[in-house]
Amino acid sequence: MLTRPAPRPAAATPGGAYPWPVPKVYPWLRGHPTVLDCALGVVLFLVSIPQWPGRGNPAYVVAGAVVVSAALAATVVPRRRYPEAAFAVAIALGALQIVFGVQPSNGVPPARALEPTNADLAIVVLLYTLAAYRPRRISLAGLAVALGGAALTIGRWAPAHGAHSSAPLLGAAVALGGSALLAWVLGDHMAYRRAYYASLEDRAERAEAERDAQAQIAAAAERARELQERRASAVDESAARLRRIERDLHDGAQVRLAALALALGEIKENLEAAAADDQGRMAMLVGAAHQNAKETLAELRDLARGIHPPVLDRGLGAALATLAEASATPVALSVSIAERPSPAIESIAYFCAAELLANVTKHSGASRATVTAGDQGGRLLMTVTDDGAGGAGLAPGGGLAGLLERVQTVDGRLDIDSPPGGPTIITIELPSHA
Ligand SMILES: Nc1ncnc2c1ncn2[C@@H]1O[C@H](COP(=O)(O)OP(=O)(O)O)[C@@H](O)[C@H]1O
Ligand SMILES: [Mg+2]
Repeated sequence: MLTRPAPRPAAATPGGAYPWPVPKVYPWLRGHPTVLDCALGVVLFLVSIPQWPGRGNPAYVVAGAVVVSAALAATVVPRRRYPEAAFAVAIALGALQIVFGVQPSNGVPPARALEPTNADLAIVVLLYTLAAYRPRRISLAGLAVALGGAALTIGRWAPAHGAHSSAPLLGAAVALGGSALLAWVLGDHMAYRRAYYASLEDRAERAEAERDAQAQIAAAAERARELQERRASAVDESAARLRRIERDLHDGAQVRLAALALALGEIKENLEAAAADDQGRMAMLVGAAHQNAKETLAELRDLARGIHPPVLDRGLGAALATLAEASATPVALSVSIAERPSPAIESIAYFCAAELLANVTKHSGASRATVTAGDQGGRLLMTVTDDGAGGAGLAPGGGLAGLLERVQTVDGRLDIDSPPGGPTIITIELPSHA
């Protein structure tokens, strides 16, 4: 039997792959990464609000700060699809901040709208993303750029820290440098884990494919063995049938023909020496020869019918009708065969119907029987039903066992449904063309 290995059971915890309890929203978010990234962007934007220029500033300065924070926060949204581009945009914004927002040049006050804020943490997130999803050389380049940016920020901030009031600036710069390193390490570890799990999965898949292939080979071997057995039994059966025919010819027709030849020889001799008083003896010999000839003919006809019933020449429908008419139990017959099956199949179906109807009369005590035959999708389907006592089953050497063997030689099926008390439904399924 070909069976697929059972799928691996799903983890029982709500988080799927997590052995510890996790809030339900976590696995949901993992399935909806875009939502997660949008939420991350919103958080980055929100945490930058306290650092925007205060009420005393002109509206365009505040608006500028809002736009820069929003742009930085927005870079995390497409981070999975375009990590390099998102990182480049965030770094470009960061560079603008370093040049104009920290310490432009001696004497020029920094543009407050471009002072770094917590929204710059987007760079950290994007660095993590690069480390987790991109080759190491790219993420290392990203790390170098981020660290360089952090160093530059601190360097430029130091001489100017007295000049403007943005207190979290140094903190932001230090945090940027430290967290850039941390983000890279975490991302790199994540990439390593992903590669490791991918290799495990790959190995598991290959093992499964191998198991499948082995199951298929085993099934094919089993099928080959089955077919060999069937062919052997078909060969045995036809050999036995030939032996039976040979014996029947030897014991029956041959003996009778010998007797006939003997009688005719005697008649010939008697005719040569014909005398009037031999009339009685002649008549007796002729009578015996005639009788022998008739019986031999009948026997040969039966023999031929056992090999191929002549009624089958007119098709299975006609042959079944003849069987139904000859049955001692009334039979309702319904045949709808669109395409004539091959002769071997018709012959098997005919012998099955003959045996099954004989069983109905012999064993069932039924008042009526039904025979249906039809073809569908290249299969011939025949059922013989009776309303008798039921209890039909395979018995060694019995007629039903013989039918099963015949049917199996062409890969067909025989189903017996015959509970005690009846009714009996026997279904035969054969390929239309063997
Ligand atoms: N239509 C039927 N209704 C009830 N019993 C049946 C029917 N057909 C077969 N049987 C039972 O199943 C047994 C096996 O049938 P079969 O193999 O044809 O053997 P048999 O050579 O006796 O006919 C029979 O002996 C009979 O008891
Ligand atoms: Mg029988």
